[in-house]
Amino acid sequence: MKEYFIQNAKDFMDQEITLKGWVYNFRKGGKLWFLILRDGTGIMQTVISMNDVPEEQFNLKSTITIESSIEVTGVVREESRSPGGYEMHVTGLKLIALAEEYPISKKEHGTDFLMDNRHLWIRSRRQFAILRVRHTIIKAIRDFFDDKDFTLFDTPIFQQAATEGTSTLFKTDYFGEDAYLSQSGQLYGETGAAAFGKIYCFGPTFRAEKSKTRRHLTEFWMVEPEMAFYDLDMDMDLAEDFTMYIVEQVLKHRIPELEILERDISKLEAIQKPFPRVHYNDAVKILQENGVDFKWGDDFGGADETIISSQYNSPVMVHRYPSKIKAFYMKRDPEAPEHALAVDMLAPEGYGEIIGGSQREDDMALLLQRIDEEGMTPESYKWYLDLRRYGSFPHSGFGMGLERTVAWMCGIKHIRETIPFPRLMSRLNP
Ligand code: 4AD
Ligand code: MG
Repeated sequence: MKEYFIQNAKDFMDQEITLKGWVYNFRKGGKLWFLILRDGTGIMQTVISMNDVPEEQFNLKSTITIESSIEVTGVVREESRSPGGYEMHVTGLKLIALAEEYPISKKEHGTDFLMDNRHLWIRSRRQFAILRVRHTIIKAIRDFFDDKDFTLFDTPIFQQAATEGTSTLFKTDYFGEDAYLSQSGQLYGETGAAAFGKIYCFGPTFRAEKSKTRRHLTEFWMVEPEMAFYDLDMDMDLAEDFTMYIVEQVLKHRIPELEILERDISKLEAIQKPFPRVHYNDAVKILQENGVDFKWGDDFGGADETIISSQYNSPVMVHRYPSKIKAFYMKRDPEAPEHALAVDMLAPEGYGEIIGGSQREDDMALLLQRIDEEGMTPESYKWYLDLRRYGSFPHSGFGMGLERTVAWMCGIKHIRETIPFPRLMSRLNP
């Protein structure tokens, strides 16, 4: 069966084809009317002339509504004034289903209204562009690791202990026992690295984020590679190559979408390797030189990250944060034990942290000490500690938040538009 789609309309110039889709818009004249068709791959102007179609089809112009589903047959012709440079001269129109009055119109709607109608909002141009960029980033993520012989290693969503601290855990009842939704696949990923060398997991991640910010979702997707025998430098090399690859793939495949979003593409084109690598102590100096009253030992807030990243055109990797503010599993710097062998990658233009990673603590005694310091119990981590018992090995990994990366690539302010159905503190519907 031959299928035709608007995105390849150029391949069918001067041929008669049939498209199925929805009425994006229309403009009515006397002997002529225009129907803008949306088929999920693009939009296309079609011209319906009284002379070319049977009367009852031409008369659809008086009943047709926005978002009605329709089948349109016609000849694709070059037309420089139309979007895409072509339009369709219609020879046949078939209404599939007449839509009721569509709630989303061209006028400005408030965010709450659009979020309540997210299931319809995703049909609009802007959301279409964002979610296509998301698709391309997901493919780039998979291709990057698959091509480097990483094994995909799926990690569980029901977990019995915390990975990233106990304050953002979603607790659920698991047949009378407490279970938590995954904050990260990492600890399981580490077991995978011992079995396969290099793995990645990629799936939904849950954090009970009680703060309302434009960077936090309660459900987001994270890709987490984990590599045996990698130290922090190798980890940063990989994070850099990986991020560069994503930027390249988006620029290669999604220029039309970035144009819909009015993204300043030159900002993405300016990104190049090597990305700057800045020690936490030097990042603190940058803040102090910029007049921020920042105390050594604190974590960076969003505003601090923006100041640090605005020094550079490419993402910056800040490494060796104080171990006190980082997760229990991070290895301490043997040369300065108050620092962890941690890295955060901060995206340019104020997009903040897109990657968090580290070399992992492979010393059993130090790991037990950190578990104790965090007030956690070693029993909950028995299987994780086994990795240090049976052939402990230096290893590293990182996690990239998909939605923050999409927001950055698209140049959009709020993370809520980067996933089909965002989950926020005050949003579980639709
Ligand atoms: O820095 P995080 O918490 O690191 C980890 O979870 C590690 N276990 C990763 C690893 O080493 N395997 O989270 C990693 C990334 C952040 O840099 C950010 O991009 C994203 O996940 N992220 C969020 N994205 C959206 N909403 C939230 N609430 C997020 N929290 C983290
Ligand atoms: Mg982090």
